[in-house]
Amino acid sequence: MFSLTGKTALVTGAGSGIGAAIAELFARAGAYVVAADVNEIGGQRTIETVRAEGGQAEFVLLDVTNEETCTALANRLLLNRGPLDVLVNNAGIGHVGTLITTTATDFDRILNVNVRGVFNVTKAFLPAMVVRGAGSVINLASSAGLEGLKDRFAYATSKHAVVGMTRCLALDHAKSGVRVNCICPGRVETPFVKSRLAEYADTEAAYREMCSTQANGRMAKPEEIAALALYLAADESSFVTGAAFPIDGGMTAGSGKLS
Ligand SMILES: NC(=O)c1ccc[n+]([C@@H]2O[C@H](COP(=O)([O-])OP(=O)(O)OC[C@H]3O[C@@H](n4cnc5c(N)ncnc54)[C@H](O)[C@@H]3O)[C@@H](O)[C@H]2O)c1
Repeated sequence: MFSLTGKTALVTGAGSGIGAAIAELFARAGAYVVAADVNEIGGQRTIETVRAEGGQAEFVLLDVTNEETCTALANRLLLNRGPLDVLVNNAGIGHVGTLITTTATDFDRILNVNVRGVFNVTKAFLPAMVVRGAGSVINLASSAGLEGLKDRFAYATSKHAVVGMTRCLALDHAKSGVRVNCICPGRVETPFVKSRLAEYADTEAAYREMCSTQANGRMAKPEEIAALALYLAADESSFVTGAAFPIDGGMTAGSGKLS
């Protein structure tokens, strides 16, 4: 397994789903994990799991949309632990709708968490990483950041922005030694997807339809996404920057319609 021994990693949205799986795997690999979330119950659950396995983690209550709180956390961690080795911008929210059914309030809410949140956290933590000349930033984008997705107007727009931010950050800071990549999952079985399913009248049919969009016919487990995050966090990925990795059971490989 890749080692993160001696490294400090911040994972936003660590109280559920993919973020929780990343936090737990990073701790197993030896990292000190700062598990941040607006959801205190979920965040506490994650650090309890880590500690029960003998790992090291602390929970911090963090709303990624609050710039001041992000800066305050960055200042405290810099003082206590030095610059971050790994930053995982995972916190994100979803929304079902076309432009016609998406209100301006919905649109602002999605972009505020999914785009401005990544800006706030990265803005707070990246400068010290750049000064030190090392570190890995990992953003959770989506297959909906690489291709359009029906009925996900605001969400897919926000995830295209995350892919764009990743590429620009990687270019701007490549020579500093800080690497920036993003992970583009297809459907992953998490509370996030379950709440999207609940927005459909026929939940079972929506589940089957979601699975059918993956070439391999199933959703991912959060742990399958965390494994890629571990590689991107570890020194073994030292030549990888500016990349957007599909991890989607073949969802974005092609339509397969010519076969
Ligand atoms: N599940 C999927 O199918 C899927 C697919 C592609 C991409 N993603 C992306 O992966 C990431 C994680 O998704 P998930 O499925 O694990 O979701 P999830 O809903 O299970 O977990 C998201 C976590 O983020 C936290 N969060 C939400 N808003 C926050 C805020 N303002 N500040 C801090 N924390 C906040 C939530 O409290 C929650 O604990 C998201 O960015 C999502 O867009 C998920």
